[in-house]
Amino acid sequence: MKVIIAKSRKEAVKRAASIFLGAVKRKPHAVLGLATGSTMIPLYRKLVQLYKKGEIDFSKIKTFNLDEYTRSKIFHKYMNKHLFSKVNIKKQNAHFPSSNTKDYENEIKKAGGIDLCILGIGKNGHIAFNEPGSSFQSITRKVITADSRHAYSIGIKTIMSSKKIILLAFGKEKANAVFKSLRGDVTEDVPASVLRKHKDAAFILDKAAASKL
Ligand code: GLP
Repeated sequence: MKVIIAKSRKEAVKRAASIFLGAVKRKPHAVLGLATGSTMIPLYRKLVQLYKKGEIDFSKIKTFNLDEYTRSKIFHKYMNKHLFSKVNIKKQNAHFPSSNTKDYENEIKKAGGIDLCILGIGKNGHIAFNEPGSSFQSITRKVITADSRHAYSIGIKTIMSSKKIILLAFGKEKANAVFKSLRGDVTEDVPASVLRKHKDAAFILDKAAASKL
């Protein structure tokens, strides 16, 4: 497990964008697992800038979003707003989990698996909508979030099958979750702790998120 503590949030986003760039340069038809949430907004802004400069071509890229609510399309809207409407991704290549959760797993497998999975982390250590207590063997399924909403989420096993994983965390409100994930036990009570068992995973943190390490 690699831990990168950046000087600033801006620097952290740069590091993440450069890992992204490396992955899609090596493999123009890369398969990406994408998170939503406020943490990702500056990263997607940076990727749009790189696209505009001609440094990223999204035309062959396939994306699989990590989660979505059952009764709304909040994350579809988020992705369109922050990334998809601003780059040349093909609509049919951008996937979101929905009621046919088995199909979602199969689609990911058919695409050759996730090359790079980009994660955020919840204050309680959740990744995607795998809340504390989620099985490390979990795959895409319907879940109930910590705030009692119904959603579809890829599983911990799905995430761990990715070839490369980066997790971004910013701000002191994430410091506890980051500390428990990196310094506590590897346990289903802290979903992000599982990433320590992955052979190519990195936490990219700003100083505040790293302040308890
Ligand atoms: C959300 C999402 C996660 C995200 C996390 C952190 O609920 N399901 O994929 O990484 O919570 O969100 P934020 O970046 O807004 O702190």
